[in-house]
Amino acid sequence: MRTVVRVVERIEETPSTVTLRFPYAPAAEPGQFVMLWIPGDDEIPMSLSYVEGDRKGVTVKAMGATSRHVLTIAPGDWIGLRGPYGNRFDLAPRRLLIVAGGSGAAVLAPGAERVVAGGGSVVVALGATRAPELLFRQRFAEMGARVEVATDDASAGFAGYVTGVAERLLAEEPFDAVWTCGPEVMMRKVLALADARGVPTFGSTERHMKCAIGMCDACAFGPFHVCTDGPVFSSGQLRSVPDFGVFHRDAAGRRVRF
Ligand SMILES: Cc1cc2nc3c(=O)[nH]c(=O)nc-3n(C[C@H](O)[C@H](O)[C@H](O)COP(=O)(O)OP(=O)(O)OC[C@H]3O[C@@H](n4cnc5c(N)ncnc54)[C@H](O)[C@@H]3O)c2cc1C
Ligand code: FES
Repeated sequence: MRTVVRVVERIEETPSTVTLRFPYAPAAEPGQFVMLWIPGDDEIPMSLSYVEGDRKGVTVKAMGATSRHVLTIAPGDWIGLRGPYGNRFDLAPRRLLIVAGGSGAAVLAPGAERVVAGGGSVVVALGATRAPELLFRQRFAEMGARVEVATDDASAGFAGYVTGVAERLLAEEPFDAVWTCGPEVMMRKVLALADARGVPTFGSTERHMKCAIGMCDACAFGPFHVCTDGPVFSSGQLRSVPDFGVFHRDAAGRRVRF
């Protein structure tokens, strides 16, 4: 059932990304998502970038028509919510490496906060196309994580893809687990790098969604449904899906190469 609430805060995180905060009481865990309905437009899946308490949040990057519409929402505007849905990150790792590309940081930040609060250490490899697009750099630093950045255009940190930073960190330091979210091609590379070091990976995946409750098959991911079996998948599960990092499906269900 959908709940309609008023947005209470809008934060411009980067030139292409905003966070909306709103009152929403259902309990949520790091990694879970909601179906966000924009009145007069569409309903899209969005991870909860803030899961604690009654004031939840989503952090949305402009991709197409509906997410661009989200960026125009202001405090006082109505939105609809269903969920939370899906599974969560395993919060057990004591030495965690996070590899985030673009808006993927939104998915990973709440779990990082829990791991740090539980006494674990978190290193974040944070990538973006350019420095102003580095999402949650300050939030990760303020929670006590060590942040190493990479930008495609060399405007901050390592010049190149964030996987370059991840490769160095995995060679230099021991980790219990890697969490990753971002472009699937990036996540596939992260999985290969972590596999080579024997470190388990948990990747948060994205597919088009309609029902979000395992009924419509829109989010099929190999033998899995992203909405009910994921969105967080383990190394073994990711390896078992040949499409991972290679093909996704468009809104009509057609297989499309990334
Ligand atoms: C579980 C889950 C959690 C998500 N969390 C976030 C989040 O925290 N922040 C955020 O900014 N985005 C998140 N997304 C992605 C977000 O749902 C899409 O960007 C959004 O639905 C795009 O809708 P649109 O109408 O704006 O663009 P569209 O016009 O539908 O799409 C724009 C482009 O993005 C591609 N695309 C759209 N949706 C998906 C998808 N689900 N998987 C792969 N490619 C897609 C399209 O093929 C197209 O190339 C999440 C997706 C899922 C499934
Ligand atoms: S969105 Fe319908 S089965 Fe996952």
